[in-house]
This record gives sequence, structure tokens and C-alpha cells, in this order.
Amino acid sequence: MKEKASQFAPANIALIKYWGKRQSPLNLPVTSSLSVSLPLGTHTTLSLTSDKDMIFLNGNEQSPESSFAMRLSAFLDPFRPPNTYFRVDTKNEIPTSAGLASSSSGFAALVLALNDLFEWNLSQKELSILARQGSGSACRSIYKGFVEWHKGVQDDGKDSYAEPVPSQMQDLCIGLWMVSDKEKPIDSRRAMIQTVETSPLYAAWPDTVASDLAQMKKALSENDFLLLGKVAEENALAMHATMMAAKPAILYWLPESVAALHKIWSLRKEGLNLFFTMDAGPNLKLLFLKKDAATVKSLLPNLQLLDVVAKPQHPNLLPN
Ligand code: PMV
Repeated sequence: MKEKASQFAPANIALIKYWGKRQSPLNLPVTSSLSVSLPLGTHTTLSLTSDKDMIFLNGNEQSPESSFAMRLSAFLDPFRPPNTYFRVDTKNEIPTSAGLASSSSGFAALVLALNDLFEWNLSQKELSILARQGSGSACRSIYKGFVEWHKGVQDDGKDSYAEPVPSQMQDLCIGLWMVSDKEKPIDSRRAMIQTVETSPLYAAWPDTVASDLAQMKKALSENDFLLLGKVAEENALAMHATMMAAKPAILYWLPESVAALHKIWSLRKEGLNLFFTMDAGPNLKLLFLKKDAATVKSLLPNLQLLDVVAKPQHPNLLPN
């Protein structure tokens, strides 16, 4: 094994959402999902120490009682050599807990670092299965580009992993519209359970995802941005609708989120090809083409513009 391992994993934004588990401990999802990886993500450095786990987030040591440290330590337990502890240094390029998918890149980077530290030489499929057990969406952050997480049907989770999706999509841009960076009121883990158990709308979700996923793959294979934007936006709204019907209701949106989505709809009415998606938080991720980036930026100056994130891809063309 090595003395120290440092790895990076990209954050990913789901275009077709994962919302709801069929089995909790292994994070086995009710549906498949599809995402695009961002150029930003998490850098994690891992080494062994002798007296206690030491966990740093963006340079600050986390209390062992914090939910962040407890979640990481519990994930690392099965891999711990006897009488050994881990030092984890993790740096997120995007805010933790702002609904910007930092747990996805966090657990993916941790798994990549474990693989490197212990020199396991795991395949990307095996790494994806391991990352999924930290946080479901992390299984998609093992790859760049467009990625599908196959829900699988087995109880052991061995067929529930992500892999790249073939795509001809060109020049997709993503903009982060932060309306708040406050900690979200309920984490996705608890919110999913509450939705599955109590929302009368959840029954319609698996069929919605199946048809949206087929449309999204069509959009990717035909480089059809308008279809991609339309389906991504509809799928995000349908996911939030299932949560709002939960008891008690789960509403991640703030008044500013609603104002932002109305703004996008009105710009679209005026002819701009601009769409949004939203996750378990109040912030919006905007989808548009590179040729419209300057216009979007001039209309929405506070937008954090990410680079072009997608070029044509083939499933056997793996990253790095
Ligand atoms: O992987 P988790 O438990 O953080 O859940 C992610 C849930 C969403 O971001 C809302 C959707 C998704 O597919 O990423």
C-alpha cells in the first residue's frame, strides 16, 4: 500500500433524477437515473494514522461527533486495518449541503483515494458500486460526461452501478444560479424515505422516470438540446411534486427559487433556449448551449458559468 493517496472526482448533476430507494443500507434505487459530470468536484487525500480518525473539510478539522465526520468514519470502518485510523483531507470546489451534489463527488473521491491508497486496482464498475454505498449519486461521479446509473434488481446491489452513456451532445453549458448557500432543512436521505413512505404521487414516479430516461437518451444520441432541456426540466419538477405531496410536505424551494424559475420561463418565451433543473435544495442549475452563453451571462450576471461540459462520447471511451 501507499503512504498517502490523493484523488479528484467530479460533481454530477442529474438530468433524470434518483429519488427513492428500494433498499436503504446499500442505497439501491427504485429507478435508474442519468447525469452529467461537472468540471468542478472534490479533491481528497487519504492516509493512515494511529490514534483517531482525523477528518478535514476545506482545511477545517471536523468534530468526530459532526454528522459529516460520523458518516465518513462509518463508511471507512470496513476498510480499516486493525488498530488504525484514517486522516481524510477533503476539499470541495462547490458548497457542501447547498443541494449542489457535493456528496456525489465527495464519496466518489474517497473511494478513488481508498483504491489508490490500498492499491486495489478495482474496475470502474467496482468503484461505482462502492461509491454508491456512501451516497447513491456518488456512483455516477466515477466518470466524466453523461452517465447512467442502472437501478439493478438484485438484493446484493452488484447490478446497481453507473457507466458512461453514448452521446452526440455538443456544447452543453451549465450555470449555477445560487439563491441561497444555507444548509438545507432536510437531507436527501431522510427526504427520500419520507417521500416513498407518504407521498401519494410517488406511485407515478417510476413510470415517469422510465419514459423521461428513454427521451433523454434519444436527445443525447441525436444532439437534440431542446429535447434534453425540456425533459430535464419536466423530470426535476415531477420529482419536486412527489416531495411536496409527502406528509409532512418537503419543499426545498425558497421564494427566490420560484422567482428564478419564472424568470427562466419568461426568457424562454422571448426565444432564449434556457432550461433549469433543481436538486434537494433551493438553487437552480441552468442548461443552455455555448452559443448562448454570453447572452445568458449578460441577462443573469450572478450566474456561475461552468465550462462546456459535454462533448460527443462513446461508452468505451473512459475518462482520464
Ligand atoms: O445521492 P444522494 O443521497 O445525495 O441523493 C441525490 C438526490 C438528487 O440529487 C436530488 C438527485 C440525483 O439523482 O442526484
